[in-house]
Amino acid sequence: MTLAVCPGSFDPLTLGHIDVIERARGMFDEVVVAVSHNAKKTYLFSLDERVELAREALAGVGGVRVEAATGLIADFARERRAAAIVKGLRGAADYDAEQAMALLNRHLSHIETVFVMGDPALSHIASSFVKEIASYGGTIDDLVTPNVARALRKVNS
Ligand code: PNS
Repeated sequence: MTLAVCPGSFDPLTLGHIDVIERARGMFDEVVVAVSHNAKKTYLFSLDERVELAREALAGVGGVRVEAATGLIADFARERRAAAIVKGLRGAADYDAEQAMALLNRHLSHIETVFVMGDPALSHIASSFVKEIASYGGTIDDLVTPNVARALRKVNS
C-alpha cells in the first residue's frame, strides 16, 4: 500500500483542492489530507472547522481521509510512512512558494514532494478569493462544495 500526504491550510477546501487530491489518489493507494497551519496566514475557520468541512466534502472519495496536522508536515508524513507528499501547482507563483518547502520537507524527512498540475479550468480558484467573494455576497457555488458554500454564507451572514 502506498500512502501520500496532501498538506495544506484548506481555509476552506475548494474544488481546486479536490481535483489535486483526486489526482493524488490516482497515483497512490491511500491519501491523507493533512489540514495544517501556515505561520504566514490568519484563518477564517478554526482547525476543527477546516477538518470537518474537508471531511464532509471528501466523504464520497474512496481511499482519502482527512486529519488535523498540528506539528511539522515532515514528522506527520514520516509517522504515517508516506511514500510522498503531494502538492498541487496552478502556476509559477505556486512553484516559487512550494520549492523551498519541498526541499525542507525532504531535508527533514527524506520524503519526496510530488507536484501535480491541477485542471487548468480550476486554476483561478484560491481559498483567499473564495473567501473574498463570499464576504461580498458573491456566488461561490461553482468554486466549492455545497457544505463549504453553506459555511461561508453563515460566516458572512
Ligand atoms: O495551503 P497552504 O497555506 O499553502 O499550506 C502550507 C502548509 C500548511 C502545508 C505549510 O505551511 C506547512 O507545512 N505547515 C506545517 C508546519 C511545517 O511543516 N512547516 C515547515 C514547512 S517547510
